[in-house]
Amino acid sequence: MKKSFGKVIAIVLTGMLLLLGVPACTGGGSSASSSAASSAASSAASSSASASAEKTYKVGISMPTKSLQRWNQDGSNMEEMFKAAGYKVDLQYAEDDVPTQINQIENMIAGGCDVLVIAAINGESLTEVLEKAKEKSIPVIAYDRLIMDTDAVSYYATFDNWMVGMFQGQYIVDQLDLKNAKGPFNIEFFTGDPPDNNIKFFYGGAMEILQPYLDNGTLVCPSGQIEMLTVATEKWKTENAQARMENLISSQSYGPTKTQLHAVMCSNDSTAQGVTNALVDAGFTADNFPVITGQDCDIVSCKNMKAGLQAMSVFKDTRTLAAQVVKMTTQILNGQTVDVNDTKTYDNGTGIIPTFLCEPLSFTVDDMQTLIDIGYYTPEQLK
Ligand code: GAL
Repeated sequence: MKKSFGKVIAIVLTGMLLLLGVPACTGGGSSASSSAASSAASSAASSSASASAEKTYKVGISMPTKSLQRWNQDGSNMEEMFKAAGYKVDLQYAEDDVPTQINQIENMIAGGCDVLVIAAINGESLTEVLEKAKEKSIPVIAYDRLIMDTDAVSYYATFDNWMVGMFQGQYIVDQLDLKNAKGPFNIEFFTGDPPDNNIKFFYGGAMEILQPYLDNGTLVCPSGQIEMLTVATEKWKTENAQARMENLISSQSYGPTKTQLHAVMCSNDSTAQGVTNALVDAGFTADNFPVITGQDCDIVSCKNMKAGLQAMSVFKDTRTLAAQVVKMTTQILNGQTVDVNDTKTYDNGTGIIPTFLCEPLSFTVDDMQTLIDIGYYTPEQLK
């Protein structure tokens, strides 16, 4: 599943388009082709110009929290790109507090936003406030996380989240050589916040790959904690994952010289970091560290990968998603056909929401230089 050359080409291409101020995203699961990218480039450029010529539109961007690195990047990338395309921007962070997010969205509606871009804290809690957006015919784009139970959502833009989970599962299969080795290997599971609709996809994708090995006994989960909600991590918080891992270490006697732990499937980096902290405190070192998965290529996790304290992460270039959302917004406001590539998968309870899926990439320590080459991080940030 690891295609380094294609990976670099796809990312570099995206980076070039971004430098030109042009939105670019790769189509559902395949690498970007230069022709697709250049047609995206020209259509985005022309639509952007006509949007700003007629009126200065205002976009409300509602982000869940500043406490996780990625949302800071998502917010600032979008703010910068929307402004460069001639929009006014109202960017708000709700510190993982649902009433705060609702309040901020209400203010955006009252404050004359022409479009709303929302990464929901709780995908099921925005039905009422989005009724108000609908009454004012304000289009809503669900950003990264699907917003459930409301027909006010016009579009959804995200990464292929099922694929994220599959990368994590496949990495564990490959590292432990589950196809050939007899095992049994011990594994524990950590996913994210239950009201985040994405966890069904992350967990589901990983389980699609791992379940056959649990069924045939090659993989064993000693705690028996396997169900999605049992292994959830409230608010995706590192400290919550750490506390649960500490409990597992004592209840299962995991340790370098005690019960072996071969893998921990973590749905993202903030949970992986909590698991890593607990394992380091319990005496595990790079020489005997379990295979830990992650997602987001957070700086802390990149450093852990370099230190041998996390095996992999999934890179989702937040610039790519931001650029796609700017492009979709402009198309909506210009009454143009909106660029989507999935019209089957994402039902939010009121019907299918047309979606654009960006492509995630499986990353390991070998890919750190790529993150620097494409300007995602500076060398100093990863030191
Ligand atoms: C998910 C998102 C992930 C991760 C997580 C924690 O919804 O897709 O990239 O960041 O939330 O915020």
